[in-house]
Amino acid sequence: MIYMDHNATTPVRPEVLEALLPYYREHFGNPSSIHWAGRAVKGAVDAAREQVAALVNCDPSEVVFTSCGSEADNMALKGVAAAQRDRGNHIITTRVEHPAVLNTCLYLENQGYEITLLDVDREGMLDPAALEAAITPRTILVSVMHANNETGVLSPVGTIGEIAARYKVYFHCDAVQAAGKVPIDFKGNQLTLLALSGHKLGAPKGVGALIARKGAKLHPLIHGGSQERNRRAGTENVAGIVAFGKACELAMQEMASESARIAELRDRLEQGIMSRIPDVRINGHREERLPNTLNISFAGVEADSLLLSLDLEGIAVSSGSACSSGALKTSPVLAAMGIDPVLARGSLRFSLGWGNSATEVDRVLQVLPGIVERLRKSGEK
Ligand SMILES: Cc1ncc(COP(=O)(O)O)c(C=O)c1O
Repeated sequence: MIYMDHNATTPVRPEVLEALLPYYREHFGNPSSIHWAGRAVKGAVDAAREQVAALVNCDPSEVVFTSCGSEADNMALKGVAAAQRDRGNHIITTRVEHPAVLNTCLYLENQGYEITLLDVDREGMLDPAALEAAITPRTILVSVMHANNETGVLSPVGTIGEIAARYKVYFHCDAVQAAGKVPIDFKGNQLTLLALSGHKLGAPKGVGALIARKGAKLHPLIHGGSQERNRRAGTENVAGIVAFGKACELAMQEMASESARIAELRDRLEQGIMSRIPDVRINGHREERLPNTLNISFAGVEADSLLLSLDLEGIAVSSGSACSSGALKTSPVLAAMGIDPVLARGSLRFSLGWGNSATEVDRVLQVLPGIVERLRKSGEK
C-alpha cells in the first residue's frame, strides 16, 4: 500500500503514539484538579503548549488548544466578528481558502458581515497590493492561508502581516497545511491569529490549536469553564494535546532535512510524470509551493477514474480538497486559478510525507502512464 495523501491526514507517528498512551492509561486526571492526579497531567499540557509554541514562534500563553483546525478557523473568524462588531463588519479573505474559512465567511455574510473574496493568479498566487486596496475603515479582519491544501501554493504571509499591521487590522492565517512543512513565524510575521491541526503533522485527529496574540479581542466559541485562559471552555483532550506537542517537537527537529528529502521525492515524481505522460499541466507556482505537494492535471481523463484505478493498485491520492475527497467535484481552488474546468476535472493531488520512499515514487511512475493511456483510449470511444 502506498499512501500519498498526507494533506488529507497523516499516519500517527510511532513516537507520538508512545507519548500519548500513558495519558489513556495511568495519567487519567483532569488538568483542572489540584490533587496529584490533576497535577500530573497539567504539567504535560503545559509542556505540549511550549512545544507547539516553539514550532510557530509564539508565546506558550498564546496557544489555545481546540478540537481541530476547523474549530480554530471558526473561532478566529466568528470570535473576531463578534468582538469587533462596533468597529466594523468587513472581512477580507481569498477565493482559495479551505471550506473551514470560506463557509464560515458565508455564514457571517448571512449574519450581515461584508466579505471580500480576493482573486489569485493562474499560479495560485495572491497579490498583496490587491489586498491592501480592499482594506476600508470598516475592515476588522484579513484571513489568508499560509499554504493551500490542494496546490501547496504559499501566500506572502510576511507582506500581508506588514500591511495588516500598518492599517491596524487583525490578521488570521490558516497554517493547517504549512505547519511542520515550512517555517512559521507568528511573531515575526505580525500575525494576530493562526490555525493549526494535529492530524496533518503526525498527531491523531481530534486536536488543533488557535494561536491568539496576547490581548487580541475575540469572543470564545465554546462557553463554560475557565480552561485555556477563558478562550475555550471544556476539559482538555489531554492525550491529544500531549501527542500534538510531541508531533510539533519532532517536526521542529526534522523539518529542514525532511522537507529537503520530501521535495526531492516530489520532484522525482513530477519529472517522472512529465517525461512519461503527454498533455499534463502542473497546477500552482513551481517555487512558492509546499515541498510535499504536487497538483497535476491529465487532459482527457476524469480524476475520479484515475483515483479509483490507482486505488486498485494500492496507491492512495486525492482529487479536489482533502475534506471533499470522496465527493469528487470540480475544485473551486483550480476554478479560482482560471484552470479550464474540463482540465481541472482531470486533476490529482499527490501529497507526500514522512513514510514515503523513492521506491514508492518509482512504483507510481510504473503504473500511472498505463492507467492514463487506458482511460484516455476508453474516453475516445
Ligand atoms: C488549509 C486547511 N485548513 C483547515 C483544515 C481543517 O482542519 P481539520 O481537519 O483539523 O478540521 C484543513 C483540512 O484539510 C486544511 O487543509
